[in-house]
Amino acid sequence: MTGDIKAILRSDTELSQAQIVELLDTEDEALRNCLMEEAYRVKLQQVGKEVYLRGIIEFSNRCSKDCFYCGIRRSNRQVERFTMPREDIIRAALWAHDNRYGSLVLQAGERQDKDFVGYVEGLIQEIKETSQGELGITLSLGEQSESTYQRWFQAGAHRYLLRIETSNTALYKKLHPQDHDPTVRHACIATLRSVGYQVGTGVMIGLPGQSSADLARDIAYFKTHDIDMIGMGPYIVHQQTPMGAAADDFNPERQVELSLRMIALTRIMLKDVNIAATTALQALHPQGREMGLQAGANIIMPNITDTQYRAAYQLYEGKPCMDENASLCRNCLDRRVTSIGESIGLGKWGDSPHFALRTKEAGQS
Ligand code: 5AD
Ligand code: FES
Repeated sequence: MTGDIKAILRSDTELSQAQIVELLDTEDEALRNCLMEEAYRVKLQQVGKEVYLRGIIEFSNRCSKDCFYCGIRRSNRQVERFTMPREDIIRAALWAHDNRYGSLVLQAGERQDKDFVGYVEGLIQEIKETSQGELGITLSLGEQSESTYQRWFQAGAHRYLLRIETSNTALYKKLHPQDHDPTVRHACIATLRSVGYQVGTGVMIGLPGQSSADLARDIAYFKTHDIDMIGMGPYIVHQQTPMGAAADDFNPERQVELSLRMIALTRIMLKDVNIAATTALQALHPQGREMGLQAGANIIMPNITDTQYRAAYQLYEGKPCMDENASLCRNCLDRRVTSIGESIGLGKWGDSPHFALRTKEAGQS
């Protein structure tokens, strides 16, 4: 079987679900390395060696949800809650623009109230105006109504990240309270598409109770839903959560390895999408993000939030760069990216070729 898989990896034949499971599980070092080499080959062919930056501003940790794994869940009373004032957010956005970041991500806990929706709308408009329309804006603000997605799109946001967390419905239900409904999440993804956003999704990798077959189905989900961008990373424990407190066999090496294999397989299966080397990877391994790029990722999301807010925005433990301000982060990134022979695509939005093709086919450009 192994011989066959190597041949399949090197050809353009699509991997079956069973072969994906075998590649996730294999202890054969040569096969594992073959997977990584092929993923990098596909990456070079499809998206090249240019890494795009998305400066991320985590502007509020107030959250109305209560996910069992997340450090800023509503029930965690030990977190000091904050929402960054408008001026601080705009300052961070302008810093990103001045430093030729093509685009930025606005992320926060999930809130659907009127004040929040209006606050975000104002932010998007102001960032668009002050950057003369040059900064691309991605939102990562959870489940919202169609009209909210529309308002934010009209204000100038053009990409949206909403992870499905896992494609296994039974597992999703174990990770969340009863009123967090996976079908709502899936419907939101469809709505985002119809409103016109480039849509990103992703999953957590190495969740308790998650099988390799689940992960293989996650990749199939990305493919059948024609997703433009993928952001996925290892699940990491947080002691102040029900899942973190109950964990007794957390193995960071295994989480990193599984995440790298998922990135590689997603690159091979989806080919021309944007894939992020997430900060969660770096939280578990100092070179995690570079390893992610070498496994097939082409996007990095440096944190450009003022350091004063970072301690209160911990979804998981061991978050890196807690004290580095944005410019230090930037220097460190340049070094990291060049250390593996790649370069940063400055001043570009860096849309995925997949999105460009999708809109062209639909006659939108
Ligand atoms: N470990 C890893 N990722 C997490 N997220 C939330 N909590 C954790 C954790 N403990 C991820 C979820 C969410 C994204 C914003 O952060 O996938 O969608
Ligand atoms: Fe905030 Fe899950 S705890 S969205």
